Amino acid sequence: MRKKLVAGNWKMHGSLRQNEALLQRLRAEAGALSCEVVVCPPFPYLAQAQALLEGSAVAWGAQSLSEFPQGAHTGEVSAGMLCDLGCRYVLVGHSERRSLYGESDSVVAGKFEAAVRAGLVPVLCVGETLSERESGVTGDVVRRQLDAVLDRVGVAGLASAVLAYEPVWAIGTGMTATPEQAQAVHALIRSHLAACGFEAASAIRILYGGSVKPQNAVELFGQPDVDGGLIGGAALVADDFLAICQAAN
Ligand code: 13P
Repeated sequence: MRKKLVAGNWKMHGSLRQNEALLQRLRAEAGALSCEVVVCPPFPYLAQAQALLEGSAVAWGAQSLSEFPQGAHTGEVSAGMLCDLGCRYVLVGHSERRSLYGESDSVVAGKFEAAVRAGLVPVLCVGETLSERESGVTGDVVRRQLDAVLDRVGVAGLASAVLAYEPVWAIGTGMTATPEQAQAVHALIRSHLAACGFEAASAIRILYGGSVKPQNAVELFGQPDVDGGLIGGAALVADDFLAICQAAN
């Protein structure tokens, strides 16, 4: 049985004051939830998350990391620095990183490897654009994104990972994948990993992300291969995020 996980990706939102209220609320209520709860604030607020969530049921993570361990990489943050702070999770290959900041499959694979080497739990994001879905190549795109990582780290490198299927057309658009569409891609991901020789394919957690709201979470999380969610907009509103966590209970 895979334990459900709900992760909030705050993207570039928040302030010390807003975060404090949200984190205190999550801290107070997450203990009663049966799913795992993770928040991913922007880098400057990770220390705040660490301080306010210490000893609570809420884990925290970063939204990205460098593929390099250290050196002349102005503006970047290494896996070692995240570990130094006590960070446990890190998003890798979010579609906004891929499309807005030019992260290729190979860069994403490098980042994934850096996370695994440091002992972080990478949450690898994959997903197709609207035109790719309409051209019928969703499966090809998702397999290509997975294979880039598998080529780099092998199936052993997936042991600690979490995956997230985030159809690009559903992110921040209010256009959620139907539960059937999500389930179909999640099942495809799982069977592809099994076909690649990943023995724990039935145990790895695959989150769905893309306009998850309290209203659609129960049905999405009820699909057999959907193991929770990666939440954007709704993760900034305590009531909504907690209601989504409840849906994973
Ligand atoms: P929304 O929930 O705002 O669609 O964002 C999803 C996402 O990108 C989470 O990483």
